[in-house]
This record gives sequence, C-alpha cells and structure tokens, in this order.
Amino acid sequence: MERRATIALATIAVVVLAAAGCGKKKSEKSAESDKSAEMGKTTEGGNTAEAGKTEESGKSGGVDLEVTHWWTSGGEAAAVAEFAKAFDATGNHWVDGAIAGSGDVARPVMISRITGGKPMGATQFNHGKQAEELVQAGLMRDLTDLATKEHWKNIIKPSSLLDSCTLDGKIYCVPVNIHSQQWLWLSNKAFQDAGVPVPTNWDEFVKAAPALEKAGKVPLAQGQQSWQTTLTFQVLLVAIAGPEAYNKVFGEKDKAFAAGPEMAKVFAAADMARKLSAKSTAQEWNQATSMVIKGEAGGQIMGDWARGEFQVAGQVAGKDYTCLPGLGVHEVIQTGGDAFYFPKLQDEAKSKAQETLASVMLSKETQVAFNLKKGSLPVRGDVDLNAADDCMKKGLAILAKGAVIQAPDQLMSPDSNTQINDLFSEFFKTPKMTPAQAQKRFADLVAKAK
Ligand code: GAL
Repeated sequence: MERRATIALATIAVVVLAAAGCGKKKSEKSAESDKSAEMGKTTEGGNTAEAGKTEESGKSGGVDLEVTHWWTSGGEAAAVAEFAKAFDATGNHWVDGAIAGSGDVARPVMISRITGGKPMGATQFNHGKQAEELVQAGLMRDLTDLATKEHWKNIIKPSSLLDSCTLDGKIYCVPVNIHSQQWLWLSNKAFQDAGVPVPTNWDEFVKAAPALEKAGKVPLAQGQQSWQTTLTFQVLLVAIAGPEAYNKVFGEKDKAFAAGPEMAKVFAAADMARKLSAKSTAQEWNQATSMVIKGEAGGQIMGDWARGEFQVAGQVAGKDYTCLPGLGVHEVIQTGGDAFYFPKLQDEAKSKAQETLASVMLSKETQVAFNLKKGSLPVRGDVDLNAADDCMKKGLAILAKGAVIQAPDQLMSPDSNTQINDLFSEFFKTPKMTPAQAQKRFADLVAKAK
C-alpha cells in the first residue's frame, strides 16, 4: 500500500517538476535541458535501447556513471564537484544528474527512475528510512563485501551512520558526511546595522528582533518549503525542551508527551518564529541564507549545509557571520546526513565503477575536500582538518563530546515525515491557526507515526 503511494507520488512529482520548468527563465531552461540531454544520453542497467553497451569515457577502461542528487546551490555544487573530480581521476566519468528543488522534489524522481527500470549509477538519499523500500524490493546493491574489504565498520564514526545503511545485517549505502540541522546562522552586519550585539542564544535573538525590524530587517529568514518549516520546529524543540524531549517525540513517538506542557512551550516558540519570519518570502533554503549573507535578515535556522553558501560568498565565520549550534542552548549535533546508494545494474563495467565510486567517496582526501566545501563533518575521524573554520570546529568539538541525536529520517518513515511537514507548512502560512491547534494535530500524527 505504502509503496504504491510512494510510486504514485513519484509520478506526480515528475509532472510537477516538468510543469515547474515551464515557468523558468530561458537561460535557466536551456541550461537544464542541456543537463537533461546529457542525462538522457546515459544508459543504465540494460533497461534502455542501449542495453548492455558500456560508454567509454575516453580513458581506457573508464565508464560514464550517472549520479543523481539534489545539490544545486552554490555551496552544494562546489562540494559535488569534488566528488566528480575524484571519480574522474580514476579514469571513469561522473555524469552529473542534479535535480533542483530540494530533496522533496528530487527523491520521488529518483525513486520513479529506479522502480521504473531506468536506474542511475548512484544516487543520494538521506540514509535511514528514505530508501528502505527500494532495498526491500531488491533494487539496490548489497555493498557488504566491499565494506568488509575496506573495513568501513572501523573507519566510519559514529557507528550509527553505517547502522542507518544496514538492513538485516547487510550494508546498502556509503555515508559521505554528517550533516546537522541544529544551527542558527546570524548576520553580524544585520545586528551591527540595528545597533545591538550579535545574540549568543535564541532568547537574545528574540529580544533583538524589534531592533532588527526597526532597522528594516527581517528578523528570521525562513524558506517556505514544508521541510524547512519542520526543520525550524525540530531545532526549536531540541533548544527549548532538550534532546531527550526530541527523542521522546521523534524516536519513541510518545503521544502524551507530544500533547503535554513541555511541548506547548516549543509550539509557543514556533509561533514566535512564525511571527519573526512573517516577511520572509523565500522558498528555497539558499534564498533565505542569501538574505542573511546580505545582512537583510538577522538569522536563519538551517542545517550546516548553509555554511557552504557563506563560504562561496567569501564570508568568514566569526567575522562576517556567527553560528550557534543548538541555538546556543543545547549544543548537539545530529548524526544524520547524506549517503549514496547504488541501484543494481546489468552492466558489469558500470557495476565495477559503482564500487570505485563508493571507495573514492570514503577516501581520506575526498572526505576532506568534499566536507570542507559542503559544510558537513567527515564520516571518518582519521582525516586532516587543519583547514576547518570556526563553525566546523564547533561541530567537531560537540561530536567529540558525544552530544549527538539522530536525524528525523533515521527515526521516522518518509510518509510520517511528510505528514508532519504538511502540518508545519500550514502552520507557518496560517497565522490564525493557534499553537494549541497545531499541537493537537501534531500529537495525533506522532501517535500514528512509524
Ligand atoms: C539535505 C541534505 C543536505 C542538503 C540539504 C539542502 O537533505 O542532507 O546535504 O543538501 O538537504 O539541499
């Protein structure tokens, strides 16, 4: 049942994606059609007319491998280029399959490609439950032999990262980073313009908001896509009620707690965030980050992938912007992130190239180069991070202390996460929905979440 729903969703998303393309500017359109033309050229899995053929990359023994992901912002593109460079250096060729519009748009497209018999060579998912049905359906490669040969269990830290790639004792993905959404990113300029000090925690941020407004700034930049409004809520939950409360709600699905007084405080804070972001019309997360970079907004609650945007804009942590893990209250790192899965292919050369790509993604050099640009932390502790900036150092220190929580994707099914996303999207768009009404609906969703 659930699977059929996912596949139906995938079909709708393909149509929506196609329709979304219609509204685009000409230059954007042609850049995208160039990309799709390139994507279309790639043949995978013996499922197309070109079945069985191996596309030579020009270097002996190399093949083209299409890799799909939703990394299209400036920082993300810079990071993904490091993977492409490292893979190309093996004599193979990375065929970039970027899908714009964030994970919620990209994932249904990826799923429909795989279930529809047109698999790519490799694809991003947040490890945890997102790809579970594809694994259960036997569509994804079992990487256990490679993982054993390369001692992934010894090198990948914390072990929960690899656990989220494991089903019935077999490993189906390679984790490439640790991404945490538990951050507040602040524009030092915005606070300077407003004549108030840069806040050191959420309460100070709320107190500084009137001064920001007076100076013509939007206090809180907030992308309106549903996953982003939920992200804000989840980060407030950890900051206001603590990591244990987060585990009770998202891990244990404790309805009574979700409906109780501790959580009422979190909904009050979410109501405040809604008010502080009322004038933020950005849709994409990186548009909201850009408001912070320019000093038009005071701050943004967002994952550490935002760090990549500040970097591309030439801004320096501690000088131009400030990052507060756990909103400066409960400093925790979420140990979710991105992983690559490898659909089963009929082509031997491409299957071999999949293994090469998995190894390359985990190599020490690639881990450093990729994660420095991506804003994430490496999945192995034995790498040289001399080049880490202030914010990355803060993240590493929290990780070393073991102050970690799991990501929602590791704790809840995609369907349950989507229902919660829909609720928060509505809450942020509907000022007349009271925090109490939202909390009641939330508690009901938590009760039936899987
Ligand atoms: C997350 C992903 C990050 C980042 C973010 C925004 O799902 O884990 O790597 O890309 O989406 O696109």
